[in-house]
Amino acid sequence: MEKAMVKIAIVYHSGYGHTAVQAEAVRRGASEVSGTDVSLIPVENRDESWDFIDSADAIIFGSPTYFGSASAQLKELLDETSGRWLEGRWANKLAAGFTNSAGMSGDKLATLQQINHFAMQHGMIWIGLGLPPGNNTSTGSPDDLNRLGGFLGAMSQADADVPPEVAPAGSDLRTAEFLGRRVAEAAVRWRAGQAAETVAA
Ligand SMILES: Cc1cc2nc3c(=O)[nH]c(=O)nc-3n(C[C@H](O)[C@H](O)[C@H](O)COP(=O)(O)O)c2cc1C
Repeated sequence: MEKAMVKIAIVYHSGYGHTAVQAEAVRRGASEVSGTDVSLIPVENRDESWDFIDSADAIIFGSPTYFGSASAQLKELLDETSGRWLEGRWANKLAAGFTNSAGMSGDKLATLQQINHFAMQHGMIWIGLGLPPGNNTSTGSPDDLNRLGGFLGAMSQADADVPPEVAPAGSDLRTAEFLGRRVAEAAVRWRAGQAAETVAA
């Protein structure tokens, strides 16, 4: 019997296109892992995508940081999941997060924490970035992977006056790819473990 693909949903909002570039990098990374079916879902398209999201092994949430939190548009989607929370429908799915903003910090951590708390309330299993901080020694450079030094998820920065064709770029996009790949690899292992448990039972 053919093995079912491991499903990864990347659910994100982007008001002006910058976080969409980061989301695309997460998708590239996740798609490098064989046996995965990766779907990039802007929040605006959620109504036709709930089936995919509900059946996903992992959901990666992304948002710009607006006023030190996730955007209202991502939050709206999160708040629409209260029925799923009641049913425990997303429990034991893997979860991860990414955010983009103009400031180097810009309070991006607050957005990742918000997404993390959401995932924890749903009983999901959080996958952090898993990279050491880059660009934090005298020999470091902004080209280092994880140059913004995030741990909870992937961070990227885009100058406020620069279009999404230009920023975010470089290390931040490679960091986003890393997160996508890491979550996809974890999801493949997670699914294999669940299958082994079923056989053993
Ligand atoms: C309403 C609003 C609030 C913002 N608040 C922050 C903030 O708290 N920190 C920050 O670094 N940038 C902030 N920015 C800048 C955006 O995070 C930045 O322009 C980002 O690239 C936008 O992503 P998007 O193009 O995906 O919407 C804010 C922008 C807007 C429109």
